[in-house]
Amino acid sequence: MCGIVCYVGTKQAKPILLNGLKQLEYRGYDSAGIAIQRGTRVVRYRSVGKIEELERKLHDVTLPGNTGIAHTRWATHGEPSEHNAHPHTDQEKKVFVIHNGIIENFHTIKKKLEKDGIVFGSDTDTEVLAHLIAINFDGDLAEAVRKTMAQVEGTFGMAVLHKNVPDQIVVARRGSPLIIGISEDGHLAASDISAMVRYTDKVVHIEDNELAVLTRDDFSISTAQATLIKRDTERVEWTAEDAELNGFPHYMLKEIYEQPDTIRNAMRGRIELGEGVPKLGGIVPVWDKLKESRHLVIVGCGTSYYAGCVGRYIFERLTEIDVEVELASEFRYRKLNFPPNTFILALSQSGETADTLAAIREAKRKGANLLGIVNVVGSSISRETDAGVYNHAGPEIGVASTKIFTSQLTILTLLALLLGRHQNLSLTEGVTAIRALQALPEQVKQVLAQAHHIEAIAEKYHKYNNWLFLGRKYNFPIAMEGALKLKEISYIHAEGYAAGEMKHGPIALVSPNMPTVAIAPMDEMYEKMISNIQEIKSRRGPVIAIISRGDEKIREMVDEVIEIPCTLDYLYPILVVVPCQLLAYYCARFLGRDIDKPRNLAKSVTVE
Ligand code: AGP
Repeated sequence: MCGIVCYVGTKQAKPILLNGLKQLEYRGYDSAGIAIQRGTRVVRYRSVGKIEELERKLHDVTLPGNTGIAHTRWATHGEPSEHNAHPHTDQEKKVFVIHNGIIENFHTIKKKLEKDGIVFGSDTDTEVLAHLIAINFDGDLAEAVRKTMAQVEGTFGMAVLHKNVPDQIVVARRGSPLIIGISEDGHLAASDISAMVRYTDKVVHIEDNELAVLTRDDFSISTAQATLIKRDTERVEWTAEDAELNGFPHYMLKEIYEQPDTIRNAMRGRIELGEGVPKLGGIVPVWDKLKESRHLVIVGCGTSYYAGCVGRYIFERLTEIDVEVELASEFRYRKLNFPPNTFILALSQSGETADTLAAIREAKRKGANLLGIVNVVGSSISRETDAGVYNHAGPEIGVASTKIFTSQLTILTLLALLLGRHQNLSLTEGVTAIRALQALPEQVKQVLAQAHHIEAIAEKYHKYNNWLFLGRKYNFPIAMEGALKLKEISYIHAEGYAAGEMKHGPIALVSPNMPTVAIAPMDEMYEKMISNIQEIKSRRGPVIAIISRGDEKIREMVDEVIEIPCTLDYLYPILVVVPCQLLAYYCARFLGRDIDKPRNLAKSVTVE
């Protein structure tokens, strides 16, 4: 997704903006640009490719100025090129705009403007914003932007400069995230907190159809109808160091290794061993309704959806609640007939995924109660749900979601345990569950200690072009998640399948040229998984088995084993996914992939 970062203050804008763009790189992009204003002079530079290319162009350029906007573009309209990179301007180069989102009526507007004699310099939808703001400008930049907001359909997070309005930036949002940062030497705005954490931990959120005017000494927020808004400042819990590599070669590996801590953080202050009942303060506002609810629909996309698929089995094991799991991108188009007191639980790391946001808005329209499990504090989904639980996992920079997945599973277990203990779950079962949860961080460390062994397996198999991941019940979603990890960062084709489905078709694929990752801990599905492994081995398929420590039976049957500690059946997914994450990581590394920024992917998919 595109990245936006702006600054107006007492410091030079250029270094602040370039650093901000680097913090946004993980969102995925194909070009970048910057515009710096000094007095009534605005200078713009743009480049294709990585930010280093833009820095190379700027290397011998002083580019003085205390006001500026900068952008990383993820092409939607118009190919990646310098002339399509943001900022875009009007014909007289007075207005400079950067934009994240899609202007859905841009064709109509563009045709009319061209008919009025305006010549476009790019193929982008964004450029219509620059021309409209220039036409609407009569000295008040905020008013010009406000008028433009009323003329366009679709989504935007935008930032605007005008050469005749020095030391001022106007930002506006509809459907794409934008946050204001308040620092000691000025004001910032960005599409993502990580672009600002080095300069401030004080932020103010802008809501949809709101506009803000930033100057060196102040900022103001108003609605599209020019009503002024007073909004509290919030403290960001992340630090600049959280967004650094800290010696790791890739953010993905750093975040895989953070999992003992992030699983611990997911439980911090939320478990009381004595009663075997978790405490989740974030759901207190809806507790009276939630504890009576017997119908839950979990929605999410990608890895968050797979976390929901595990969550369904966990809720079925611990509660009396009827649980469905739906892909958010499908759910929003369904004819939804919810039983009374239905709860929708949205899982989202970014809290900005367009499909998930659209799904909860549709569910709200149909009268459902909304819960969220979200990592980014103050994100759209966290603000549009009635209640929820934050992951408190720190920024997840790598495009491939890893630490958030195990954090989501931990919180889903806490939520199911809390509800179950108010239904039929005994004190003993509650205490047993909490003891097993408390053991997980150390157990994940034991799995991470096998990283070199897993790396050796990846070295042996990374040239195979097709992989199969198999699991049953709690670990069927892990088979799908493991396949997704491998696909999205190594570009190796992989399928995750319910092992019971093998005989219904996929077994035709088995051959010596297709490794199978068999997820076979000593849980209730163990014997069935042994049968699946035998089916594959009898057709000479290589098998990499993820097994419980001490399992000699499977060890003798397969080509490779990765051992994990023993735990409760419904907690095995948190342990077995770690080898899948590391297998994907090392295969991608041996293949020389851009691991933190895989091709075509973005960290937060804020367009549909
Ligand atoms: C996971 O590795 C992917 N990057 C992707 O599937 C991601 O999980 C999905 O886009 C949902 O993102 P969210 O959790 O921020 O909503």
